[in-house]
Amino acid sequence: MLVLGIETTCDETAAAVVEWRGDARGGILSNVILSQTAEHEVFGGVVPEIAARAHVEAIDHVIAKALADAGQSLDRMDGIAAAAGPGLIGGVIVGLTTAKAMALVTEKPLIAVNHLEAHALTARLTDGTPFPYCLFLASGGHTQVVAVRGVGDYVRLGTTMDDAIGEAFDKTAKLLGLGYPGGPQVEQEAKRGNPSRFALPRPMLGRDDANFSLSGLKTALRLEAERIAPLSDQDVADLCASFQQAVADVVLDRLRAGLKMFRERTGAPTALVAAGGVAANQTIRKALHRAAFEVGTALVVPPPELCTDNGAMIAWAGAERLWLGLTDPLDFMPRARWPLEEVRGWDKAAATIQRK
Ligand code: KG4
Ligand code: ZN
Repeated sequence: MLVLGIETTCDETAAAVVEWRGDARGGILSNVILSQTAEHEVFGGVVPEIAARAHVEAIDHVIAKALADAGQSLDRMDGIAAAAGPGLIGGVIVGLTTAKAMALVTEKPLIAVNHLEAHALTARLTDGTPFPYCLFLASGGHTQVVAVRGVGDYVRLGTTMDDAIGEAFDKTAKLLGLGYPGGPQVEQEAKRGNPSRFALPRPMLGRDDANFSLSGLKTALRLEAERIAPLSDQDVADLCASFQQAVADVVLDRLRAGLKMFRERTGAPTALVAAGGVAANQTIRKALHRAAFEVGTALVVPPPELCTDNGAMIAWAGAERLWLGLTDPLDFMPRARWPLEEVRGWDKAAATIQRK
């Protein structure tokens, strides 16, 4: 089975072709990503209107390249998948409408994929990870701990009360005069910094739920920076290192709580799976290793280009859904907000009734 996947929910225009080999294993035939980082850099963050226009300009070329790189044509596809949310609505409309038009013309099934579900299922494409597993998704827009029990069967164990982790890194970078996106720059600075120079708070530590809160940490960092301003290079490095360590400590603690909740509700996970740009951070990666090791489970971290937004994850989620017959009508509405729990799954009872 071949599926084309389209991703336009944020600042990457992406398309890919993946092959589904029937045993929930797959191959990536092409994976084209056009990043808009340069367009948004001057504004220090993603500007939704600029993003939507950039998607319109790029999408046809990106899809054509994805098909060409795969050595395939549109009529060879078994389904056309697009991220239908959550995300910046202007961009979502561009990708989903394009997919609908292609599905209409070619009379192929449309799969309207939840972007978070695509992140959640990526470990199956890369590592064939069996259900159920515990997902830690940390990107610029999302921070979630999720029990992934099957396609369309997700239980959110924790989320952030305010900023996403990547967002907190980006804001910290901006405050300290570093560039955008901030995560990699903060990590770079932190390498030559002292992580224990500033006693920053570890919000939510020790709580039973797996929720996060990062705005207090961000404020504490700002107050420290203001207190010692003007900042030397060493001050910036020490602030970055202290911030990064505080986040890593919080991640470890929150995942301990999340994995405990997972065990109580679902039994033992087959793995702890990381997704999202933040998983690239080595200090946070150490916290993930430790959290997994402590409960005797494996840590699965897909390669960086598949942890961040991409078309292959949309195509793959599309393939998993298409295999179960979970296709969508052409009037499926794009969704700015779309919690994972609201994703439709394969309902055994309904399927039996329909067959009769
Ligand atoms: O998954 P992603 O590429 O895009 C979405 O937000 O969907 O994640 C990007 C986020 C940004 O906030 C970026 O600062 C953060 O991930 N990030 C990092 C690192 N690399 C990327 N945060 C901390 N350390 C890093 N090395
Ligand atoms: Zn994402």
